[in-house]
Amino acid sequence: MRKKIVAGNWKMHKNYKEGIDLIESCIRLFEKEKNKTTEIIFCTPFIHLHKASKLTDEHKHIHTGGQNCHWEEQGAFTGETSCAMLKSCGASFVIIGHSERRMYFNETHEQLAKKVDSALKHNLIPIFCCGEPLEIREANTHLELISKQIRESLFHLSKEQISKTVIAYEPVWAIGTGKTATTEQAQEMHAHIRKALAHQYDLETATNISILYGGSCKPSNAKELFSQPDVDGGLIGGAALVAEDFIAIANSF
Ligand code: 13P
Repeated sequence: MRKKIVAGNWKMHKNYKEGIDLIESCIRLFEKEKNKTTEIIFCTPFIHLHKASKLTDEHKHIHTGGQNCHWEEQGAFTGETSCAMLKSCGASFVIIGHSERRMYFNETHEQLAKKVDSALKHNLIPIFCCGEPLEIREANTHLELISKQIRESLFHLSKEQISKTVIAYEPVWAIGTGKTATTEQAQEMHAHIRKALAHQYDLETATNISILYGGSCKPSNAKELFSQPDVDGGLIGGAALVAEDFIAIANSF
């Protein structure tokens, strides 16, 4: 059975104290929910990770993750963080291939494949992001682009390895714009991704992989998006910075 997941991608927000306060508020609100069916993940800036993991440690359904990693084990890579370092801070997930990293830091399919490999090697679950910019959607070539993104960075993995990954579909035109994909657009792409996974691996493997939607997901639209058969949760940006909103989304299944 695939898991329902709501992950917060804080991006470059919150100083140390603000971040820790946010996590404490989220935990307090989330723990009020008796029958938890959702896993929640805080993908914080590196500075919060160690303390965040300590705070979430004893909460079975709450996890932490990084927002990026380097593929090398160690070395002269100023400013970078390895998967072993993330792991040593208590992280169990790492976002890989977010469109902001592809756009502003020119990350390539090949580099992302190496990051995915390193994450899996260190027992971190990659949350692999894919998504198309507006001009690709308008040219109606979005399905092809997403196929390419997952093929180039994920399809070298074995069945066992791909089973340990989470995929997030985040249309670039919906990120931080207030514009959400319609439920039909989200479902179409998620089903497309699952079909590609079934084709490359097998139906059982594809059925068990969680595929999250990201892009202006908020309490007012989460329920509808999450009701789609192939939408297994969300990767949340702006709304993850407000405890009430993030937990309302987590409780939207
Ligand atoms: P918003 O929810 O702010 O649109 O951001 C989505 C996102 O990029 C999550 O990774």
